[in-house]
Amino acid sequence: MGYPEMRPRRLRTTPAMRRLVAETDVPPRSLVLPVFVAEGAAEPVPIPSMPGVVQHTLDSLRKAAVEAAEAGVGGLMLFAIPRAKDAIGSGATDPDGILNVAIREVAAEVGDATVVMADLCLDEFTDHGHCGVLTADGRVDNDATLVRYADMAVAQAEAGVQVVGPSGMMDGQIGAIRAALDRAGHTDVSAMAYSAKYASAFFGPFRDAVQSSLEGDRSTYQQDPANATESMREVALDLAEGADMVLVKPALGYLDVVRRTRDAVDVPVAAYNVSGEYSMVEAAAAQGWIDRDRAILEVLTSIRRAGADIVLTYWAVEAARRLR
Ligand code: PBG
Repeated sequence: MGYPEMRPRRLRTTPAMRRLVAETDVPPRSLVLPVFVAEGAAEPVPIPSMPGVVQHTLDSLRKAAVEAAEAGVGGLMLFAIPRAKDAIGSGATDPDGILNVAIREVAAEVGDATVVMADLCLDEFTDHGHCGVLTADGRVDNDATLVRYADMAVAQAEAGVQVVGPSGMMDGQIGAIRAALDRAGHTDVSAMAYSAKYASAFFGPFRDAVQSSLEGDRSTYQQDPANATESMREVALDLAEGADMVLVKPALGYLDVVRRTRDAVDVPVAAYNVSGEYSMVEAAAAQGWIDRDRAILEVLTSIRRAGADIVLTYWAVEAARRLR
């Protein structure tokens, strides 16, 4: 049997019918809000390439965290911009460093109302802008970086983080972090591994947001956009090293990787709707070229449809309010 007996349009006749048969939801609890806090900021500073997003002060960050929790957002991912950067990213492991202070204050403020996560990477803290420490000849030193990540994980755990988000794409980073956390007694702190992270042009606005000093690129550690099967290997290694969740980043150009990951693993899968994806929509909407509200919902729905359980998005609070 086919047309004219079969008419798929019957299930699209009314909003109530379409709601009944919708295959995908975007529950607020599945959304994670990335937030930026700048050391020593007197007031929130708008990020020009990310309209609507700011570098927070500690004060405004606490308020934003409460707002997000009240909107039902599932978690917060903290990023920080230190005042001083150096070759090894000392600020990342200093208990009084801005990221660790922010974790402590946000965790105290929101309690159990949402999950507090933090980026675990050195790029915001290094004066050369790379995600790790460098060898004498200027290459990113994988194994020396693992030592820094291990210390950073423990510092974040002591500050009260619930989930660390290792995003540096060093080999062995999940194992090194897990071992350090366990050794320090932080067996309950979990790791959301940025397993499949690509060397993407779509991180551009983020690098403005964190005032990255990077020259050149991250192609010796982040993945080549041409590769998807390689992601399966990265995911498998991270799970073997103890990852509690795995993440694909960016999201929109990599929905095939999100789907393959979802089908391959039995842990939660996250996808990061990154800064460039955000800014493209905001810029086009500002020109009146696309319908902003519909575009946002379509983006988030598509990432969920591809199989992401958790979506990191700068629209988390706004979307959560609309979807509640
Ligand atoms: C690394 C990190 C980056 C992003 C999140 N964590 C930047 C990078 O790898 O260059 C990008 C997030 C975004 O673009 O929204 N600390």
